[in-house]
Amino acid sequence: MADGAAFPLGRMARLAVFASGRGSNLASLLRAFPPGGDEPLAAVRLVLSDRANAAALERAREAGVPAVHVPFGRDRVAFEARAEALLREHAIDLVCLAGFMRVLSASFVDTWLGRILNIHPSLLPAFRGLHAQRQALVADVRESGCTVHFVDAGVDTGRPIVQRRVPVLEGDDEDALAARILEQEHLAYPEAVRLVLRGEVAP
Ligand code: GAR
Repeated sequence: MADGAAFPLGRMARLAVFASGRGSNLASLLRAFPPGGDEPLAAVRLVLSDRANAAALERAREAGVPAVHVPFGRDRVAFEARAEALLREHAIDLVCLAGFMRVLSASFVDTWLGRILNIHPSLLPAFRGLHAQRQALVADVRESGCTVHFVDAGVDTGRPIVQRRVPVLEGDDEDALAARILEQEHLAYPEAVRLVLRGEVAP
């Protein structure tokens, strides 16, 4: 729905973060864009999770950000309607998927085109979908990393904004590789959000 370029806004952007689990990427976004508005570019103003017990919700509440559980259930339509209502209610400008393990519909993504980002633990287009770190180990690559990208109607197919690389080391298991990539994710997401909000990249 973005008519023309969505960014820059010329004012502080209001961010929403969707997360399903632990929320370490949420934590990095909260550090970079605190809800209190210490960073003039943006502030995290809403956190949404499809899982009631996601640690991400607790992190958000501790940071003083509205944190809402929206059940996904079998009905993506109801989830998306509620999510859309919350995004409007909180006047959200940019949505960051951060360990959000659900696939959103083409119609939801279309509404937010250019204003919805995702982070994925591989150097896309390599190793889309689930267990990207395991896929990298099975493929026996020497290098992997993470990608922050615009979300489009495909799974992990939107235009990359930032990629950060790490070596795959002899003897790495999935946890070791995931931890090395995660460190880079925490740098990559805030960097990508800055590029988008400054209008330096578009989908
Ligand atoms: C991160 O590694 C993120 O890249 C990945 O889930 C983890 C979430 O960690 N996302 C995907 O695999 C999406 N396909 P976090 O909850 O600590 O941010």
